[in-house]
Amino acid sequence: MASISVTTRDGAKLQIKASPAIPLMEFLRDGSAGVEGICGGELSCGTCHIYIDAGGESLPPRSEGEQAMLDAIADFVEVRPTSRLSCQVFVDESTPDMQVTVGPVA
Ligand code: FES
Repeated sequence: MASISVTTRDGAKLQIKASPAIPLMEFLRDGSAGVEGICGGELSCGTCHIYIDAGGESLPPRSEGEQAMLDAIADFVEVRPTSRLSCQVFVDESTPDMQVTVGPVA
């Protein structure tokens, strides 16, 4: 299990435990971090938007589908270079000390 430092949209700080093979979105959603993940990871809602504040250097780049969804929500919310869809993010031993902020949603 990895421990993820999370800042919610209202500025609250949480520690979330996450494990490999399960999308980070599920831990954020189930950990009351304010992530909804409405589409269940199908890349069609954008409600799992996060900013990676630290510790994401080893993550693979955005897939085409993830980029397309981020492009779609960029008309409504601030998408940054550090934006990711947490349904596409998996943590493991290569992502220690990850810090994320729950992003705005359209
Ligand atoms: S859960 Fe819908 S895009 Fe990630």
